[in-house]
Amino acid sequence: MQIADLKLLNFRNYNKLEVSFSKNNIIYGKNGMGKTNLIEAIYVLALTKTFRSNNDKILIKEDKEQSKISGNIIDDIKKNYQIIITKNGKNVKIDNNSYKKISDYISNIKVIIFNPNDLQIIKDSPSIRRKLLNVSISQLDNKYLKILSSYNKILKQRNSYLKTMYLNSNTSQEYLNILTDKLIDLGTQIYDYRNNYIDEINKLIDIIYEKISNIKGVSIEYLSDFNKLKKEDIKKKYIELQEKDMLFGMTKFGVHHDDLLFKLNNKELKEFGSEGQQKNAIIAYKLSEISVFNDKINKLPILLLDDLFSELDNEKINNILNIIDDKIQTFITTTEIDKVNKNIINNSKIFHITENGVEEVKI
Ligand SMILES: Nc1ncnc2c1ncn2[C@@H]1O[C@H](COP(=O)(O)OP(=O)(O)O)[C@@H](O)[C@H]1O
Ligand SMILES: [Mg+2]
Repeated sequence: MQIADLKLLNFRNYNKLEVSFSKNNIIYGKNGMGKTNLIEAIYVLALTKTFRSNNDKILIKEDKEQSKISGNIIDDIKKNYQIIITKNGKNVKIDNNSYKKISDYISNIKVIIFNPNDLQIIKDSPSIRRKLLNVSISQLDNKYLKILSSYNKILKQRNSYLKTMYLNSNTSQEYLNILTDKLIDLGTQIYDYRNNYIDEINKLIDIIYEKISNIKGVSIEYLSDFNKLKKEDIKKKYIELQEKDMLFGMTKFGVHHDDLLFKLNNKELKEFGSEGQQKNAIIAYKLSEISVFNDKINKLPILLLDDLFSELDNEKINNILNIIDDKIQTFITTTEIDKVNKNIINNSKIFHITENGVEEVKI
């Protein structure tokens, strides 16, 4: 799948922008010019959220009321996608038809992004790794997103009912059981999706890591409270933990605590890995995702590579670019166009971003 063009209105530092892309695109310019903002717009058009913040309002250009992104995506057929972000919410359209539920919109445009912040994923908190999983699996199957949001809703209800039960004697154990059963049902579905996804990643990540760094032995372990438990055993756990849960007003057991462990030869990369090994593992993970997308839904995502050159040496980047499928659409941002291989430059559309805006250039 490819994005043919992009229009921005009051998005981040852009007042108005209209650009058309080719299969390979390089965006270069000094720091602070809006390189990341440009590929962020593609990401937001796909996922309706940014990877840079939990607050979508910061996407709206300073002092403006709303922001609009639209773009034509070529998949089997060409379709126009549009998102309007206002201070009160978001509105999404495909070919001018509004979608009430964001979850019906997401998963149409597939993107994989690599951003320098991703290099922290291995060391970051578990919630970041769950987000990593959620974003990708949602793109593969938007049923997952619906299940996940139902799960979060039920979890909230359960937690608040636990607090009520702790304070009031006049409460219903039966109601809590209903919530717990729902939580288990949705949680097991989430577990299956995640387990399956990591299985697929594990079939590839070691081979890709070896291509990048000549070292074998990378794998990912999916950690979950639900791991290898039957539904009855899971239920028993919730009963066992009920008193504690009531005391804390929180559900201690469930897939909302899931985590991923990145390993090299069975040692945790978080504890034992060098910075370089951690970087390579994350990049190998992202590249594995491309193949999983291709295998599972027969679509190549749009690949957004933000500032890779500031993080890795040229040789490694060339290894990476060689692994990437020829048919995939790529966006590379960089401050140093000189570092980009001539071959890649010759096969790309080049955009130079300056204070005066975005300009297509020949090099
Ligand atoms: N909502 C916003 N309104 C106006 N400018 C913004 C907004 N959000 C970010 N910016 C500006 O965008 C610029 C950073 O753009 P970015 O794409 O991160 O740069 P880089 O080219 O280094 O990747 C900064 O100058 C910042 O002030
Ligand atoms: Mg940037």
